[in-house]
Amino acid sequence: MTLAQQLEFTLTAVLAQVLGESITAAVSPANDLRFGDYQSNAAMVLAKSRKMNPRALAEQIVGAWPADAIATVEIAGPGFINFRVKAEVYATRMQSAASDARLGVSPVAHPRTIVLDFSAPNVAKPMHIGHIRSTILGDSLSRIARFLGHKVITDNHIGDWGTQFGMVTWAWKNSLDEPALLANPLAELLRLYRHASDASKADESIREACRLELVKLQQGDAGNFAIWTRCLDLSKQGLQQIYQRLDVSFDHWLGESAYNNALAPLVQKLLEGNLARESDGAVCIFTDGSVADQTKDPFLIRRDGEWSDFPMMIRKSDGGFNYATTDIATLEFRKNEWNADSVWYVVDHRQSLHFQQLFAVAGRLGLASMDLRHIAFGTILGTDGKPLKTRAGDLPQLADVLDDSVAAARVAVNERSRLDTDEERAELAELIGISAVKFTELAHHRLSDYVFDLDKMVALEGDTAPYLFYSNVRSRSIFRKLEEPFVAGAPIELTEDAEIHLARLLARFAEVVPAVLDDCRPNILTSYLLEVARAFHSYFEACPVLKADGITRHSRLTLCHVTALTLATGLQLLGIAVPERM
Ligand code: ARG
Repeated sequence: MTLAQQLEFTLTAVLAQVLGESITAAVSPANDLRFGDYQSNAAMVLAKSRKMNPRALAEQIVGAWPADAIATVEIAGPGFINFRVKAEVYATRMQSAASDARLGVSPVAHPRTIVLDFSAPNVAKPMHIGHIRSTILGDSLSRIARFLGHKVITDNHIGDWGTQFGMVTWAWKNSLDEPALLANPLAELLRLYRHASDASKADESIREACRLELVKLQQGDAGNFAIWTRCLDLSKQGLQQIYQRLDVSFDHWLGESAYNNALAPLVQKLLEGNLARESDGAVCIFTDGSVADQTKDPFLIRRDGEWSDFPMMIRKSDGGFNYATTDIATLEFRKNEWNADSVWYVVDHRQSLHFQQLFAVAGRLGLASMDLRHIAFGTILGTDGKPLKTRAGDLPQLADVLDDSVAAARVAVNERSRLDTDEERAELAELIGISAVKFTELAHHRLSDYVFDLDKMVALEGDTAPYLFYSNVRSRSIFRKLEEPFVAGAPIELTEDAEIHLARLLARFAEVVPAVLDDCRPNILTSYLLEVARAFHSYFEACPVLKADGITRHSRLTLCHVTALTLATGLQLLGIAVPERM
């Protein structure tokens, strides 16, 4: 049980005694640690509905509060209750955390099957910086959900069946550079795509030629199919290299093409069930009028002061299927084959309307009980405050961004690192460069835009990955200077403010990790880790470890040990490995 849960438990018992009814009251972490560790507004809320004086009710609660509870209580303002957890309670928590790989985080009581749909770049098109947000966020959410005991299925739903293949196939037949393809497949495929895209903008007949290549592929032409297969293999290999560098992996790569055969029957089923109807030769899903507030109906749009239809198209008038059709088929598959309770889509906020429509359709198909979430995110900006672009004005490629970050880290490492060999420094720079990109992504509220400033991201000072690495290394370094062996698990005692404050934060790990999944916000964990690191440095300045002896020495070593474990475990849940030395 977390401390907050323990307090809720006691508060509920006290309320039963005072009010004579059983009421579950919520306790939350205090906003201002000067007044307590946890707080509750239960007296205010309950007094209001009972027409009582809140302060009087709070006084009754405090009067009935058991002396042997884990915290003491105080009333603040008009009737808030503040709880101060006893130092010995923190001491016991730290003692057990020191030899617990889960650091007090209990697995959830009811594990769910969660499908995480993330990364999902489009084959032969650039895997650009927008996909980086999805990849990093999704990977960290999958790690956290797994750690909490959920059954997680990660699926890379790549865009491997779009109109881009018409263009790539045309360019492949006209200007393929085979050696370049072998040397760097992603780059050559991208060049082909850009070449065809530019050419078809300039020349109508080329556009038509590309369209015909696509039709041939869709009709099963053997030659075009072979080109498509090869593009796909090469792209996957290229992507795999990037994922390996990022330490990201997927249980499945069921791209759009995996559902090709399901689309025609699906549209048929929707037509027969009157869930979709024909409109100007296309097949669409319209509003069913079930949403009372028109502003919240994703199938309506306001134009010139009038509400008009904004349907979801599932079959084009030329017979082709849409992104939406595939997504409905994919969702059904995930429900039927994988028994998914939840499907979480980590996708750019610009697709928000698409997902609102998809989830509404899911409801009409009888899937309303599923927990479907669009985990949206904003844009990455350059230091000029505009969406990040390369000098040539293109969308930056993920691999290049990683290289740039590693190069910036290399400069910082050369200036600051104590490592001797060039090899060790290069390895550290790679780790810092990748981690800096990940940490910066995860440290921002996912819906906000953020500025991509490499020098700040790799700096040792500031809210950065290297700062956490350094804190972790520092908390471990003391053990190397130790003459006696350190055996975690013996009782400890906390007396100094800095010790108690650090222990209080460390004990909160068990509350912070599950909270990340409430709204899928890893930045809750990053802020927490930075707070732990800052508290650790203050503690380390204030409380000598090696000069202390007896239980004080053991207690302080235990705090260093739990700090190191908490930082390493927290970073690992974000998909970031800590360096041994730096
Ligand atoms: N390939 C899409 C894109 O790059 C993202 C796919 C997200 N997943 C999904 N099930 N729609 O925009």
